[in-house]
Amino acid sequence: LKMKRIPEPFRIKMVEPICMTTREDREVALKEAGYNPFLLRSEDVYIDLLTDSGTGAMSDRQWAGLMMGDESYAGSKNYFNVEKKVQELFGYQYTIPAHQGRGAEQVLFPCLIKRVKSDKPVFISNYHFDTTAAHVELNGAKAINTLTPAALDTTSYNDWKGNFDVAALEATIANHGAENVAGVIINVTCNSSGGQPISMENMRTVSAIAKKHGIPVIIDSARFCENAWFIKQREKGYENKSIKEIIYEMYSHGDMLTMSAKKDPLVNIGGLLCFKDDEELFMEARCRCVPMEGFVTYGGLAGRDMEALAIGLEEGTNEEYLNYRIGQVEYLGERLRAAGVPIQYPTGGHAVFVDAKMILPHIPSHQFPAHALANELYLESGVRGVEIGSLLLGRDPSTGEQKPSPLELLRLTIPRRVYTNDHMDYIADAMIAVNERRKEIKGLEFEYEPPVLRHFVARLKPVA
Ligand code: F0G
Repeated sequence: LKMKRIPEPFRIKMVEPICMTTREDREVALKEAGYNPFLLRSEDVYIDLLTDSGTGAMSDRQWAGLMMGDESYAGSKNYFNVEKKVQELFGYQYTIPAHQGRGAEQVLFPCLIKRVKSDKPVFISNYHFDTTAAHVELNGAKAINTLTPAALDTTSYNDWKGNFDVAALEATIANHGAENVAGVIINVTCNSSGGQPISMENMRTVSAIAKKHGIPVIIDSARFCENAWFIKQREKGYENKSIKEIIYEMYSHGDMLTMSAKKDPLVNIGGLLCFKDDEELFMEARCRCVPMEGFVTYGGLAGRDMEALAIGLEEGTNEEYLNYRIGQVEYLGERLRAAGVPIQYPTGGHAVFVDAKMILPHIPSHQFPAHALANELYLESGVRGVEIGSLLLGRDPSTGEQKPSPLELLRLTIPRRVYTNDHMDYIADAMIAVNERRKEIKGLEFEYEPPVLRHFVARLKPVA
């Protein structure tokens, strides 16, 4: 059967009503929220595309798993189910649970920094996610990104906009000295460039370079299933491999993983820190886990959360589900492109990134064009997206100057198994209507600018 688009591979057993509001309601709500969608009450949002993190719908099997929670403080059987699934999927022997991705980061990074015994430690990544960069910097190290320049040209097609620029990686290692590099972090898929995949070939090359210099490779794994799906679709030699075979090979190129399990593994809370075979580092990380996250077999999670995670790790790898999942994101992206709305092209795994710099060239970066677009979309439709641009990037702590952002993007992040394809049409119609009156849209200025991570709680107002 030839299908125009892939239908949902599930049927709906329980529903949560969501409420459409009027434009007047939304004007009041946004003003009260200081023109910052992060400060809206979720009741005032119709379709919430703030993030795909912890917002997915669990399956009936995962909900059944919750009833099998073993809430023993130590040695819960649900922990061993997760450990077994990790060994099967990644071939990594040692598992530490964490409350979410940043929990794994806060446990691991100090151990890696201690190991290099450097007074100028650095981490190199295709692109550090904000919390990853924050944990690197909080521990006195520097976070350096070496993303392929292809990612910055949103309009032209490239299969691998998540790849490392290999020459830049090698130059960065040479400049800083391999002895100062505490780790190379491979982010799959690359969230900040648009949920864009990294190829197996690039992972293999990056890993070989790191190994040559004795640098450990950490795979930041929030969207590992989506990355494997793209490899199967696009990389020669992988078209007949299963998603699980591809995942196993991807992880053969790493030494350890940190994971926000709130994305691809389809749980509302959870994270992982796993090691292929480095028992010494595992033992050290375990010691840090106890005071930071919790005892080594629960790491901040309830037994029931770990059971849902063990099941979700398996469900996330299902190819039929991934076809639908990434197909739904692509469908939204294609509808926007067909109507002339510029987006990061091709669409990535978890979100459509709308290019606000192209839509609103009259708004300078210090008046936050992508944030202005997010607000307009909300006013138009009750859809909440999120700015990934100058507002998020913030100021250079040493000079106080706004850091230059290469891109000003509005991220429309699609939660997993939550919204239907009719919702995608509604979102597309709203975004297209906003694009049509783009010339009327004004920038924003601060009423209150917090000193750090300002985008979460800043208050703004439209410029006069
Ligand atoms: N790494 C990546 C690539 C992420 O996208 C995130 C979270 C984290 C680490 C941190 O994980 O939230 O479980 O502590 N990304 C979310 C987002 C918040 O909206 O993109 P966490």
